[in-house]
Amino acid sequence: MKILVLDGPNLNMLGLRNPDVYGKEGLDTIHQFMRDKFKDVSFDFFQSNHEGQLIDKIHESLDSADAIIINPGAYAHYSIALRDAIEICKMPVIEVHLSNIFSREGFRHRSVVSTVCTGVISGFGKNSYLLAVHAAIHEVRKKGA
Ligand code: DQA
Repeated sequence: MKILVLDGPNLNMLGLRNPDVYGKEGLDTIHQFMRDKFKDVSFDFFQSNHEGQLIDKIHESLDSADAIIINPGAYAHYSIALRDAIEICKMPVIEVHLSNIFSREGFRHRSVVSTVCTGVISGFGKNSYLLAVHAAIHEVRKKGA
């Protein structure tokens, strides 16, 4: 199973960035944690601080990925372009957030991408990503059944 894992702006700064909210681990450590836990999954990890690059990567993966896990970072709250790219996807798309966006500032309570995602996992730190892999595998199997 091939899962594309997309991480949006500022997530390359995990570890340095607001560790009380996002944890002390860097993005590479989180990705390694996923590889270690799911040895049978082929992951394609892609992080960008640029909206268009995230959209291009989604377009490129439309025929190759079985599922997408995306932490859109702040784009979750306002990128209609990213939302529209996700809407094109026929495969399951799981939105993840390290923090619980609903317990933070008001501007984070709304995600414009959630309505076109299969589901949302928010608030479990790096485990949000592991839960998202479980969800993605489950959704892909359900579709194939
Ligand atoms: C985040 C939450 C967003 O509000 C924020 O802009 C981020 C990280 C999270 O993983 O908790 O960049 O997506």
